[in-house]
Order: sequence, then C-alpha cells, then structure tokens
Amino acid sequence: MRNVLTVSGLKGGTGKSTTALNLSACLALYEQKVLLVDSDPQARASQWCKMNSNGNDHDLVQVLAGRISVPDAVCTTDIDGLYMLPAGFDLFPMSLKLTGRMDNEKLLRLVIDEITHDYDMVICDAPSSCGYLSLAALTAADWIAAVVIPDQDWVGDFHSLMKIVRYIRQSHNIPLGISGILFNRCNSEKQIENRVIPEVLEQIRPLIYKTMIPDDEILDKEEAGFSPLAVHDIKAPASQAYLAVAREIIRAFNLK
Ligand SMILES: Nc1ncnc2c1ncn2[C@@H]1O[C@H](COP(=O)(O)OP(=O)(O)O)[C@@H](O)[C@H]1O
Ligand SMILES: [Mg+2]
Repeated sequence: MRNVLTVSGLKGGTGKSTTALNLSACLALYEQKVLLVDSDPQARASQWCKMNSNGNDHDLVQVLAGRISVPDAVCTTDIDGLYMLPAGFDLFPMSLKLTGRMDNEKLLRLVIDEITHDYDMVICDAPSSCGYLSLAALTAADWIAAVVIPDQDWVGDFHSLMKIVRYIRQSHNIPLGISGILFNRCNSEKQIENRVIPEVLEQIRPLIYKTMIPDDEILDKEEAGFSPLAVHDIKAPASQAYLAVAREIIRAFNLK
C-alpha cells in the first residue's frame, strides 16, 4: 500500500516545512512508522535531522545522482518511528539539470517507490513555486495537503495548485488525490471567510481539514523551528493542533 502525502502550496512561507515536520512527528507519536522526505533545497525540514547526523551527508541528492541506495540515505531521528530522507542545497543545481524532460518529473516517485512499503506513511515536504522540484514532489504523491494562510489569496493559490494537479493526473496518469486544505496561522473560522465569496467557500469547504493550526510564536523561535514542537511542549496549542491533524489523517487513510 502506497501512502505518500506531499505537503504543498505555491506560496513561500505558508508553513509547509513546519507542517511536514510537525505532522510527521505527530504521526510517529501515534505509533505510525513515518518517512519524512525533504525535496526542498532550502532543506528546512532536514536541518533537525542533519544536526543529529554526525556529518553524514547521505541525502536525496546522492540518491538522485546514483551514488547511494535509497535505504542508505534514510536517517533515524530522536523520535521513535520517524525517519528522514534529507536534502541539501545541492538539490538546486541538480534540479536545473533535471528540468524540462517529462520522464524526470517521476524521478522522486521512483525513489520513494523503492522504500514506501517499509513505512505506514511517507510525508514529502515540497518547495514553494511551480518549478521542477515542486512538480516532482507532487508527482511522487498519492495525496496532497495544501497549506494556506487565511490572510492571503488562498483560493487563488489553491486553484493554481489544482492546475498542476490536473497536469500530473493527465500527463502521468496518476490518480493524485486531495487530502485537504490545511489552514495555518489561523485562529478563527472568521479569518477563513474574510476574503472569500460565500458560494466559492461552500464549494471548497468539504476539502478543508477540520483542524486549523493556530498562530504560535513558539513555532517562529529558532530552536523550536528546527525540531518538532511536540517534543518541546506537547501541550502547546500548535502541538495539539498537529496531533489533531494527525488523527484526521490516520482516520482518512485507515491507518491502525
Ligand atoms: N503556525 C505558525 N505560527 C507561527 N509561526 C509559524 C507558523 N507556521 C509557520 N511559522 C513560521 O513561518 C515561517 C515559514 O514557515 P515554513 O514552514 O518555512 O514555510 P514554507 O515551508 O511554506 O516556506 C517560519 O519562520 C515558521 O517558523
Ligand atoms: Mg519550506
């Protein structure tokens, strides 16, 4: 069974990496075996793993270059059941070489195919923008979670993302599903309604996760930003919210 969820969104700074890291950790706290794949050269989600990796530079770039096998690039983390396939900035020059050939859009999917059977869930952190790496991260997925923040044109952002999803479904014949739209930095339902025509909101509403991630200044602090918040403070509102999203996903994916 392939359960690959790519955390995506075209705008930068909406909280994709924060979500990929915290959601993966919370799924692992619920005793799921999780692999977090970082496909962003900014490597924000990987920083935590790299801090603990004793200088081991095994990462996705080495795998894509054919220098090491996929299992050899996976590192353990401080959380039982949570593993990571990290990235580094080298992914950027490599992505320039891979851009433009349709076959290459499936490379990350093929990498993940080699190990997906070892995990209950694979979470992939996608970069922002419509570039090659975002496309590869979306093409690798069975499902996507779109992370948006309410004070921006989140509907426009989501519709643009859906155009890419349709491209992937048609060109690669992959039945990519929408797991949900996750509101981050959102403290009330009112914020969601603010900028949206009510009829449009009613159409999209079934896709919105029940849980919203509140704005939480601890997530903005450097030390916590490098590691899952639940490890520092399980009672923090954002930790509780990510645990609730993890429960929604466990139910939706029928995980035990
Ligand atoms: N719920 C939140 N509350 C406060 N700060 C947040 C929240 N989510 C993300 N951030 C902060 O916003 C910034 C961008 O988050 P990041 O996950 O790197 O975004 P993206 O991966 O979408 O570019 C980071 O400094 C992060 O710590
Ligand atoms: Mg990011």
